[in-house]
Amino acid sequence: MKLTTKEIVRNAWKAKTVVPSFNVPYLPMMEPIVRALRDTESFGLVMVARLEWVKFESGSMKAIRDEYEQVKDERYTRLHLDHVPVIDEDSLRVDFEREIGEAIDLGYESVMVDGSRLALDENIACTRKIVELAANSGVAVEGELGAVLGHESGPLPPYEEIFASGKGFTRTDEAIRFATETGVDWLSVAIGNVHGAIADATRGQKKIEARLALDHLTRLSEAAKVPLVLHGGTGIRRNDLLASFNRGIAKINVATAIRQPYEKAIDLPVSERQQVVYETMVDLLRNELRVAGKAPIHTGEMV
Ligand code: 13P
Repeated sequence: MKLTTKEIVRNAWKAKTVVPSFNVPYLPMMEPIVRALRDTESFGLVMVARLEWVKFESGSMKAIRDEYEQVKDERYTRLHLDHVPVIDEDSLRVDFEREIGEAIDLGYESVMVDGSRLALDENIACTRKIVELAANSGVAVEGELGAVLGHESGPLPPYEEIFASGKGFTRTDEAIRFATETGVDWLSVAIGNVHGAIADATRGQKKIEARLALDHLTRLSEAAKVPLVLHGGTGIRRNDLLASFNRGIAKINVATAIRQPYEKAIDLPVSERQQVVYETMVDLLRNELRVAGKAPIHTGEMV
């Protein structure tokens, strides 16, 4: 029987492991992502964010869905829609209900609505709308609360200042309200994590090493009582990253770590670019995320 993505992430959550989720800003990246998941017996999500068809070369939600249908392996993969923001990184309003509705019709098995640039009440109202939209389809919904910076153009505030002040971190009291009033399946939190830059001028730069406020994460997990999601998964301090999977993080998003090697190889033939992504993926799955061999846990055979 095919498990839903909702069940798979719950399995990871209960087993204190993680479902890694990989962004596809360029269509040829998809095949080596799926191949690496299969070859290492890891379970993962293949995903696209709105900014990847607006600012990169993934084409459209449909192009990604069609490519996924060609290469998918449901023993190891599912298709997820990453960030559809209500207000985008350029401060423009997005028709998020229409776009997410289209993704559900196309067969995406989980979706993210990102209301994190809104005030709490409006974030709750927008996220709630998507939970209602998805209710009949069995599609899981991820929401975001707190400021995971990095996608906006312009420089980040100094990282140590953000971390020391906790400015923009998800608040425990708000997490309780958000989870209860929206009914989201998964909650993306801000605990020191930042996104890799995507603006033209900075997207090739090495990401800063982020740290995680682990005790705060434990409090958020106890408050929200749903699987938590860690965005900005590239380049987080190793011990913090692995510890977060024991403290409620059940899904992690990774983009920059596989996009930058692909972009560096852009002048090589497609098959060589794909090999670069494959090798990066295998290393990530085995050595960074340590999920190699864990697909049976995710798909329920061992839980
Ligand atoms: P990184 O680019 O830091 O891996 O973050 C990816 C992400 O969170 C996409 O939603």
